[in-house]
Formats: sequence, C-alpha cells, structure tokens
Amino acid sequence: MTDKKAIRQQFRKKRSALPAYRQQLASLAIADKVLRKIPVIRRAGGIAFYLSQEGEIDLLPLMLYCLKQGQRCYLPVLETPDEKKLRFAEWQPGQTMSQNKYGIGEPIVPQHQLLSAAEIDLIFMPLVAFDACGNRLGMGGGYYDRTLAGHDRDGSVPSSQKPFLVATGHDVQYIPHLPHDTWDVIPHITITPGHFIRPLRLEGD
Ligand SMILES: Nc1ncnc2c1ncn2[C@@H]1O[C@H](COP(=O)(O)OP(=O)(O)O)[C@@H](O)[C@H]1O
Ligand SMILES: [Mg+2]
Repeated sequence: MTDKKAIRQQFRKKRSALPAYRQQLASLAIADKVLRKIPVIRRAGGIAFYLSQEGEIDLLPLMLYCLKQGQRCYLPVLETPDEKKLRFAEWQPGQTMSQNKYGIGEPIVPQHQLLSAAEIDLIFMPLVAFDACGNRLGMGGGYYDRTLAGHDRDGSVPSSQKPFLVATGHDVQYIPHLPHDTWDVIPHITITPGHFIRPLRLEGD
C-alpha cells in the first residue's frame, strides 16, 4: 500500500505538470485511436465516460462524437445506495449537474435512473499509472475496483462479459511494474497515445 501511495504521488505530479496543449493532443490522439482500434465501441449502446481532473485524458470530444452516433453516454456518480460503488447517470447536452465531494460534476438524475456497471456496455476509466501487464493504479479510493468487483472472474483477469473496460492515460504514466492487490481490476485495454495494452485476447473484438 505504501508503495502504491508513493507511486501515486509521483505520477499525479507528472500528470499535472503536462502542459495544456499536450493534454489536448493526447486526448485527440486517444479519441482517434479508440475509434480505430476498439471496434466494440461502435456496438456499445451505453458508454460510461468520466469528466477529467488534474490532467486526466479529456474524453469530452469522444463523448460528444458517441452522442452524435446515437449512443447513450453516462458519467459516474459517487453517492449511491451501495457503499463506495459507482453508479452511472446519463448525460445529455444541457444536463443539470451537481458537484460531488471531490468537486467533480455529476448529472442530477432520479435515483431509479442510475445504472449499475452491469448495465453499461463499455466503461472508460482514468488512471494515475499503468504497467506493461495492464495493471492500473487509480487515485486511491478503489471506486472502480469495488464497482467492478463482481465482473472479474478470478480477481485479476477481466472477463469477456460486459462491461468492457478501457483505461485511458498519458504515455508519461507508464511504469514497468506496478504493485497490485487481489482486488485490483485489470482493464481489458489500456490505451495512451503510444501504448495499447491488452492483457488478454478476447473473442469478438
Ligand atoms: N472489491 C473491493 N471490496 C472492498 N474494498 C475494496 C475493493 N476494491 C478496493 N477496495 C478498497 O479500496 C482501497 C483502495 O484501493 P486501491 O486499489 O489502492 O486504489 P485505486 O484502485 O484507486 O488505486 C483499498 O484499500 C481496498 O481496501
Ligand atoms: Mg486498485
């Protein structure tokens, strides 16, 4: 855990230090790469994005593109009936938003309209660091791990069942080996402008 904490601090600094133009170029490069290299996105009816913080890859252009294609776009919501598990609220242009405890925008929707992860086809996850095996280090809340815990069959390798998990980051967030715990969920694909990591070949995509 201490290891993770130190790496988190170091990589959060690296990410924040990227100039705005580098962040925007990386975001455009990733949008383009996702559309070319992840064909499942075309078949996804419901896709969860996130609103970028601290230099995280900005997926807004991709979200607007998907919306234009008629796909439903969702954003994570923190305060949910299940302790520390994310739910997903649909976002549409003009959507009324609130701010969660981290100051991140969330669509305001009635509780019964919040979806669980199993109801989403593809989920984009931000990351603080990633390694060659596709391990992902998050901000330390373990939200995505907890939310997706039922979806990975043996605690590490992602299942071929939905949701399909795509982690997005910058090249500078790469580290050869990350410490990982039993609860860490490995995304199906980790994508940066220069990396495309796919720890498991899955049929049909
Ligand atoms: N499936 C889970 N069930 C219960 N607690 C979990 C689960 N996944 C993660 N956690 C908790 O979340 C905390 C943060 O997880 P960690 O993997 O360090 O953060 P992150 O994934 O954000 O980098 C851990 O201390 C762990 O106790
Ligand atoms: Mg984790």
